[in-house]
Amino acid sequence: MNSVNGNKKIDRRSVLRLGAAAGAVAGAGAVAVAVNSVGTRAVASAAPNQAPFPFTGLTSGLVVTDLEVVTVTDTSVTFSWATYAGPHPAWGKLAPLAPADTEVALVPVDADEGGELPVVHKDETQVGYHFVTVDKLRPGTTYRFECRSNGLVAEPGLITRNLPNTPEQTGQFTTLVAPEGEYLTTIAILNDTHIGENGHGIITGNFPAPIFSEPGAGPYPEVMLTAALAELRGMGIEKVFVNGDATSEARPAEVRRFAEIMNTFGAQERQWFVTRGNHDRPHKPDADPSAGYDEFPVLEGTENHRDPFGVLLGRPRQELWVTQQGPIRVIGLDSSKLDESGGEISPEQFDALERELQRDPSKPTVVLAHHPITSEAGWTHAAGPTFILNSADARRLQQMLNDAPGVFFAGAGHTHRAKRTRGDVGAGVDYLETGACKAYPGGYTLLHVYSGGYQVNFHRLISEDALAWTARARWAMYGFEPEALLGELSDRNYVVNRVIA
Ligand SMILES: [Fe+2]
Ligand SMILES: [Fe+2]
Repeated sequence: MNSVNGNKKIDRRSVLRLGAAAGAVAGAGAVAVAVNSVGTRAVASAAPNQAPFPFTGLTSGLVVTDLEVVTVTDTSVTFSWATYAGPHPAWGKLAPLAPADTEVALVPVDADEGGELPVVHKDETQVGYHFVTVDKLRPGTTYRFECRSNGLVAEPGLITRNLPNTPEQTGQFTTLVAPEGEYLTTIAILNDTHIGENGHGIITGNFPAPIFSEPGAGPYPEVMLTAALAELRGMGIEKVFVNGDATSEARPAEVRRFAEIMNTFGAQERQWFVTRGNHDRPHKPDADPSAGYDEFPVLEGTENHRDPFGVLLGRPRQELWVTQQGPIRVIGLDSSKLDESGGEISPEQFDALERELQRDPSKPTVVLAHHPITSEAGWTHAAGPTFILNSADARRLQQMLNDAPGVFFAGAGHTHRAKRTRGDVGAGVDYLETGACKAYPGGYTLLHVYSGGYQVNFHRLISEDALAWTARARWAMYGFEPEALLGELSDRNYVVNRVIA
């Protein structure tokens, strides 16, 4: 751990020291419909028993694929990959993972003499999903790496990891350089926990066929949220911010269960905070007559909507909250709409936000709202602009945030993906959609704030049951989920240098 001016920097190494630096899923009956890549790096390194069929993605023997460079911090890197029995067709029947060993080799390129890479991690345990963090790396340094199982180099999976210049394709990554100045605090963001959901990856109706938890495994939203809280608690995080879609359909039992799990971390609005997502919106009782919505009063201004989320969590619709995390002001907005997945901000909430910002416009501030705000977010998502905050409110909100010089970061959930987008108004605010907790990419995002800037890192959950679910959930949407949700390395891990305080 770093210690800067008496502030103990929170990072993941403390958690890794508590357990193993490598996570893995033994046996791992995770669902698999994979494409083997045409990665030249991997083909060049393939052992003789792995005959490549580069245009069909089929290989015989063990297939070592789905390589992801998930996290790169200033001092660490986290890899994941999976092993399957080949031939392994691109789509079709689900196949189980195949057990194999786990090995990582890497070297700084300035010390690379072109020979065998030094092995920095080796585990003979036979597992199907491989997850390794290597720490004690040098900041701002480019490393060459190979991830291997049974001597075969892990290849990237489908399309996006195979694009030129992705670290999975080049076999190189560069560690970040933390911002200068005093370390101030770390803000921990979870989003899209979807407590109560049973069936992952449905886009509409019952299509595509969802992925379910393995028989005997706990409900996946609870597995993931519990794992996240344990990990954050283990690294000394003081407050957790859940950025919407806390529940599946805001059924009373789901809201209660969400609160029950969160309360294991601490008290609401002291140790944990939640914004409302579209899934947490008021429902009519006929949405699910057995859910008990009708035990709640009719929401004022509606004919028959009931609001268990608002009542049970004491968070009426379209009301913001404000708290402090160290010297940072954190504002949570309710961007949900009554009956739709898209978002809005009421005039009253805009007024409240303006009053709060104008109270101290230069105070370093993070704003959280479930819905993305930028037009780039809308146009780059398959569901289009109607899925995000409506354009008039989005423009007004961006203007308000940009006019307050202390606002430096606006976080969103909802899309379940990691995606950094450009604002439409000014350049004062960093807009980031963070990856979902409840399933692939399966983790949380940390904002390490310094007086001279901030560092963003997405971390996949490392507990065995969380990794098993993430490996399985990856095959939702016929295996295209990583293409839509993982984002670029720079959407998950980056540094912004600017004066914060
Ligand atoms: Fe969601
Ligand atoms: Fe959502």
